[in-house]
Parts: sequence; C-alpha cells; structure tokens
Amino acid sequence: MTDLTTSDLQTSIDLSTSYLGLILKNPLIPSSGPLTNNLDSIRQLEDAGASAIVLPSLFEEELIHEQEKMARFLHQQDIGHNEADTFLPLPDNYTSHLDNMLALVSSCKQSLDIPVIGSVNGISPSGWIECALDLQQAGCDAIELNLYSVAADAKKTGSTVEDEFLQLVDILTNEVSIPVTVKLSSQFSSLSNFAQQLQHKGAEGVVCFNRFFQPDINLETLELSPILELSNPAESLLRIRWLALLKGQVELSLAATGGFHSHQEIIKALLAGADAVYLCSILIQSGPRVLTEILANLISWMEEKEYNSIEQLKGSLSYHKAASPSVYARGNYLEVMDSYSPSRGVKV
Ligand SMILES: Cc1cc2nc3c(=O)[nH]c(=O)nc-3n(C[C@H](O)[C@H](O)[C@H](O)COP(=O)(O)O)c2cc1C
Repeated sequence: MTDLTTSDLQTSIDLSTSYLGLILKNPLIPSSGPLTNNLDSIRQLEDAGASAIVLPSLFEEELIHEQEKMARFLHQQDIGHNEADTFLPLPDNYTSHLDNMLALVSSCKQSLDIPVIGSVNGISPSGWIECALDLQQAGCDAIELNLYSVAADAKKTGSTVEDEFLQLVDILTNEVSIPVTVKLSSQFSSLSNFAQQLQHKGAEGVVCFNRFFQPDINLETLELSPILELSNPAESLLRIRWLALLKGQVELSLAATGGFHSHQEIIKALLAGADAVYLCSILIQSGPRVLTEILANLISWMEEKEYNSIEQLKGSLSYHKAASPSVYARGNYLEVMDSYSPSRGVKV
C-alpha cells in the first residue's frame, strides 16, 4: 500500500466539481457502506482525500418497525399498570437507528470539513420519509434516496411502479430544503424519460446505479441465500454508457456508482458525464488510503493529457459530444457480435 498523503498531491490542475449544488474539492465520494458508518473511518476517508461522504441508509422497514415499537410502548404507558409501571423501560434509554444516525451526522458536522450526505432507502410513499427532515436538521448537506426495489409483482405495471417512485420523490423534495438525489436501478423501460420525470418532481441528481445483491441456490441444502459480493470494474461500463446517454438530456447532477475501482474507470465516468464518482467496494478491499493513490493517478493522467480541470473533462465524451455516439446506443451491435471469434480449436 502507498505511503502517499494528500500533501504529496501538489498540482495546478483544478480538481473541483459541482455536485448537487455543492462545490467539492474533487469528484471522489465514498458511498454508503461499512466505512461511512463510524466517525473514525470517516475521518480516515477525509484525510485520504474524500470530497464528501454518503452515510449508510436508514431503511424504510427499520424506521416503520421502530415507529410501531414506540407507538406500542406509549400505548402501554397510557393504559397504566399502577405500581408495575416502574418496571417498564424508560423511552429515554432507547436509542433507535434514527437516533444513532442523527448522532453520527452531528459528530461528522463537528469534525469534518467535507459535505455529509444522508441516505434513506425505501419505496413506499408514506410517513417513514419524514426522517429526512431530521437528517437535514442534524446538518446533512444533501439527501440521497435509494429506490432499491425488485418489481416482482406481475399485477403491477411498469407505470404504477414509476408513479409510486415519483410520488415518493415528490413527498421527499417537499419535506426538505436541501438537495435530493436518487440512487437508481438501471432496470427501467425508458430510463432517460424517468430521470426527466424525477427532475420535474424536484430531484437535483441521480446516482447510477444500485447493485442488487443476488440470491443464490445452495445445491446441497436446496436453500436460498442472499449473496453479498463486492463489485468488479467490468460493472462500471453499464454505468458509463448511461451517464453518457443521460448527460445533455437532463439537468441533473450525475453520480456514478458500481465497479469504480481505479482512476481508469473514474476518468471514463467523468468523460461520459459524471459530476462525481462513488467508491465502496475498493475502499472495503483496500482501505481509505487507496483514495490518495487514485487521486495521484488521476492527476498524472490529466497532466499527461494536458487537461487543466475536471470541468474541462466532464461530459466531453457524452452521447451528444462523442465522435461516434451511436456506439452508446444500439449502433455497431451486429458488427461487434460478428467480430467475435471462438477460442482456438472450437469449430463453428
Ligand atoms: C457492505 C455494503 C453495504 C452497503 N450499504 C449501503 C447502504 O446502506 N445504502 C446504499 O444506498 N448503498 C449501500 N451499499 C452500496 C454501495 O454504496 C455502492 O453503491 C455499491 O456497492 C456499488 O459501488 P461499488 O462498486 O464501489 O461497491 C452498500 C454496499 C456494500 C458492499
């Protein structure tokens, strides 16, 4: 592992980028995950060069469960059990996920210089989303809504699913005054159109894309188990394509997530149109200090190619600006398949 520190990264290149109306010192943001879950590792991320952080999500299921638990508790207290009341736990001693998260936001805001993005994860347009206001009041600079959902119900049409999501975004953007960005799945029939509708509902950004944890079947026990595998760089290509397609079609901030492990994938995302690039798996694998190494490599590449700023780089190979934009869409589909030859010795 490198001994580089951010003070070794002297450059005249302007690495700053604007994301969700926030001016970030560079495009690298550690995304929701285990390393943004406590102040110690968050401080290490900031020291290594992170320009903002996204906290782990508050989940709809957890929030609703906790709200119900508290409602039951208060109801029991109202009924009264005479002297037995003294055995009931005091609500003051109870700390919920929300309380813990709000405490983390406050300590981040006291100790860090970089923006803090709160995250909520859910899909139903209901009361749980009020927690976003708590995150704002605790000091978050922006909110990310993760629409993590597998549309499995055959009775629900695509437009119903999209309408519910839009309703939720509408509620959320009315609830808070800080910018809201939406972490999306790539699985929409017309993603560019859906992104435009998110913009009309007040979203200021989209994050492309969620990684779904896939269930696996154990062939010995015949049981299902969810598998959490970290990403690999090949996954970044789907994101890069869609960032290039979205750039110019929406007036949203664009962030990339999923498979961004080195300066190479990060540069491609920026060329395609990303304003910021999120990192998670590589930080889990290599630790916070890998950020400094990635920044050093990003600077070297920009110096070699004579770029003066990230702004100059951003979107210069988007769909509208690329010399052969059709490659981002269906173009060359047949040619690509025809150009593939089987391994040596395989007869066709
Ligand atoms: C252990 C783990 C926990 C995560 N927790 C969250 C979370 O709470 N909320 C969220 O939106 N994404 C969460 N993610 C997704 C990451 O933020 C990121 O978007 C995803 O892993 C893709 O980026 P990567 O290829 O850099 O890992 C988590 C990922 C991992 C591996």
